[in-house]
Amino acid sequence: MLIDIIAGARPNFIKIAPIIAAIEEQSKEGVDMQYRLVHTGQHYDKKMSGDFFEQLNIPAPHYNLEAGSGTQAEQTGKIMIGYEQLLLAQPCDLCIVVGDVTSTMACAIAAKKVNNIKVAHVEGGIRSGDLTMPEEINRIVTDSITDYFFTTSEVANENLRKAGVGNDKIFFVGNTMIDTLYQQMPHFIKPAFWDNYNLKDRQYIVMTLHRPNNVDNKEILKEILHEIVKASNGLPVIFPVHPRTSKMLDVIGIEGSNLLKIDPLSYLEFNYLVKNSKAVITDSGGITEEATVLGVPCMTLRDSTERPETCTIGTNELIGTDPVNIGPAFAKLFSGAWKKGSIPELWDGKTAGRIVSRIADIFGLHKL
Ligand code: UD1
Repeated sequence: MLIDIIAGARPNFIKIAPIIAAIEEQSKEGVDMQYRLVHTGQHYDKKMSGDFFEQLNIPAPHYNLEAGSGTQAEQTGKIMIGYEQLLLAQPCDLCIVVGDVTSTMACAIAAKKVNNIKVAHVEGGIRSGDLTMPEEINRIVTDSITDYFFTTSEVANENLRKAGVGNDKIFFVGNTMIDTLYQQMPHFIKPAFWDNYNLKDRQYIVMTLHRPNNVDNKEILKEILHEIVKASNGLPVIFPVHPRTSKMLDVIGIEGSNLLKIDPLSYLEFNYLVKNSKAVITDSGGITEEATVLGVPCMTLRDSTERPETCTIGTNELIGTDPVNIGPAFAKLFSGAWKKGSIPELWDGKTAGRIVSRIADIFGLHKL
C-alpha cells in the first residue's frame, strides 16, 4: 500500500514526524506499507521549514511542489495542479492530510478528484465557527470529502456526528503534535540568546502573532504591542516574528525595551522557551495545545478557538481580540490566579501509532 503524506506549512511538519516514524515501524515489522512524503512548498524559508525537518528527523521529501507564496487562491491552485500531476503519473492508495492549512485542503481536493483516492484527515472535526479565518474554510472543505477522520477530542467527534459523519469513519486517537512534544522534550535546546538577554526561568513571556486579523492591520498590531509592553511589568517578552508579521513590523517599527523581537525559532529552541516561561501570549492554535501539556499559562488573542479543550481542560484562556483585555489578563497572571489545567484524554504521545494501526486494519494489511 502506498500512502501519501502531505506537509506544507510549519505546523504540519510537527504533526507528520511521528506518523512517518510509525509507518516506518510497521513497514519494518513486515506490514506492506510504504509512504511518499509530498512537501507542497507553502513554507519554504529554512527557518519555517528546513530546520524542522532536521530537528524532527523527517526524511527529505520525495516530491516538492514548490508552490511558494501567493494569495489564498493562487496557493490553492498551484498546490492542486502540482499534486494532481503527481497523482496522475503515480497514484497512491491513501492520502493523509494533517491540520488546517491551505495545503491540507488543496491536496485533499486533488486526491479525491483523481480516481476517488481515499483521504484521511488527521485533526479532523475541529471547528472555530469563524469563517473569517482561512483555516476554518480549509477544515470544513477538507472534512466534507474526507473518508477517515482521526480526531483529537470528543468535541471534534461530536462536530462530525452533527455534520452527518458515521461513527465508523471517526477514530478518536489523540494529538500527533503532542507525540512530537513528548518525544522531543528531552532534546529541547536553550537558545543562544538566553544569557545575552539575561533570561531566568519563569521570568519572561513568550509571544507569537501571525493571524491576519491581528497583524495585517497597522493600527491593530500597534495597539496590541503597546498594551502588551504596558501590561508585562517590564518582564522580557520574547517575540519570534513570523514572516507575515515581520512585513508589518517593518512598516510600524517596534516600541518597548522589554519587547525582544527575534527571527522565527527552531522547534527545539521555541519549546524550551515555552516550557520555562511564565506565560505565553499567542494567536496560534497549536501553541495553545503545547502550553496546555507543558502546564504553562496561555493567553490567546482570539475570540474563538477550534481547540476548546485547551480552555476547558488546559491552561489556555481566550482573552479576545480587543487590546483592552490584555491588561486585565496580565493582572490575573501576576496575581497568581491563573488556572492550573490538566492534559486532555489521549494526548499521551502514542497517537501516531494508533493512527497507523487503524489504517492497517481498515486496509486489511497484515504482517508478512
Ligand atoms: C500558514 C497557515 C496557518 C499556520 C501558519 C503557521 C494557511 C491558510 N495558514 O499561515 O494556519 O498557522 O502557516 O506558520 O495555510 N512566508 C515567508 N516564508 C515562508 C513562508 C511564508 O516569507 O517560508 C511569507 C509569505 O510570503 C506570506 C506570509 O509569510 O507573505 C504568509 O505565509 P502563508 O503560508 O500564506 O500563511 P501563514 O500566515 O504562514
